[in-house]
Amino acid sequence: MSARVCFVVGARPNFMKSAPVYRELAALDPSLELLLLHTGQHYDDAMSDVFFRELGMPRPDEFLAVGSGSHAEQTAKVLVGVERVLLEHEIDLCVVAGDVNSTIAAALAAVKLGIPIAHIEAGLRSFDRAMPEEHNRVLTDHLSDILLAHSEEAITNLQREGISTGVHLVGNTMIDTLLEHLDKARERQSWEQFGLHAGEYALVTLHRPALVDDPAKLTAVTDGLITLARDHPILFPVHPRTLRNLESTGDDARLRDSGVLATEPQGYLDFLCLEADAAFVLTDSGGIQEETTALGVRCFTLRDSTERRVTEELGTNTVLGAKPERIAEIPQLLERPKPGEVVPGWDGHAGARAAETLRAFLSG
Ligand code: UD1
Ligand code: UDP
Repeated sequence: MSARVCFVVGARPNFMKSAPVYRELAALDPSLELLLLHTGQHYDDAMSDVFFRELGMPRPDEFLAVGSGSHAEQTAKVLVGVERVLLEHEIDLCVVAGDVNSTIAAALAAVKLGIPIAHIEAGLRSFDRAMPEEHNRVLTDHLSDILLAHSEEAITNLQREGISTGVHLVGNTMIDTLLEHLDKARERQSWEQFGLHAGEYALVTLHRPALVDDPAKLTAVTDGLITLARDHPILFPVHPRTLRNLESTGDDARLRDSGVLATEPQGYLDFLCLEADAAFVLTDSGGIQEETTALGVRCFTLRDSTERRVTEELGTNTVLGAKPERIAEIPQLLERPKPGEVVPGWDGHAGARAAETLRAFLSG
């Protein structure tokens, strides 16, 4: 009987990390039965469906519709739902990606059933245990049999925690997706619909609870953006968590009145075009620190830590801290260029290397 592999995805950053591995594994060994399970952690069209359409992923075979909730509610619903699917389909290998609640919940469901786990983007560490993602990453890595690492830094982190078997340096599958879609994305000239010009605007994304769930910090960020907008037009695709909080502090109206272009979250291709052609990016996203490194676009990260130190060492990223007052330093920092380098293994072939690793595991 052919082996059955279940890919679990749930939230926006999972889709671009998993898509290349799913596709490459399907091409490498057509005898495998691949099952795509979407937990429904993210569910708006702009946070989920658009990525399936644009990344050419098949419709999920299973959809759990867990939706939003507290950490315990969300994690528990995924745990129960994934367990049912793994049992019903007699799954031989469960593949999870990144560091969201769906990732740890799926890994926990699998390990309790004795099903091996592969973790895409294993080994990242912010060393900040206040971040929900840090709990998710550390625990998922310790449950996984195959740890697909995207950088040497990740391997060092795993070794420090005593994990050395099953670790494979395959590179960055999220950058595979970026390189695959970049030309098509740029042709869209997505900035035009906002009355902007390539190379002249700042692109902003913010969604970390440490920043946007704290009303005082959110208001200070708004002040910083309003001042920055005097130098650069600002385009701000607003994450739903952030929108809810901006509305409750009244800062959404202040942003719009000041000319900051606050918009819906963008689809993958439009966002990639906007990122590639931005003068610079201000963010607290994990993945966007990597994408700007690959694109050679200056990135300022409004967080106290990064689990992607390689983007500071080799890339264009500057970590400012979760300090909204530091937004005021960006115009001077831009005068000091920070040219990036290509990170080894961020070359568009990570998905193929990951697929080879999974197949070798299944046939071994
Ligand atoms: C989650 C991840 C975070 C990741 C981010 C990517 C966890 C713990 N956090 O954070 O690591 O960086 O996704 O975007 O897994 N909402 C909607 N529509 C949606 C999804 C969410 O309106 O489609 C709103 C709901 O009000 C929800 C809130 O956003 O309560 C937060 O969603 P949730 O998935 O819990 O966490 P994120 O902040 O999105
Ligand atoms: N992204 C997108 N549209 C947006 C904002 C982000 O397509 O409006 C993409 C971005 O290019 C990257 C991924 O979403 O591929 C990053 O996800 P996010 O910032 O939500 O999560 P994180 O990486 O912080 O976990």
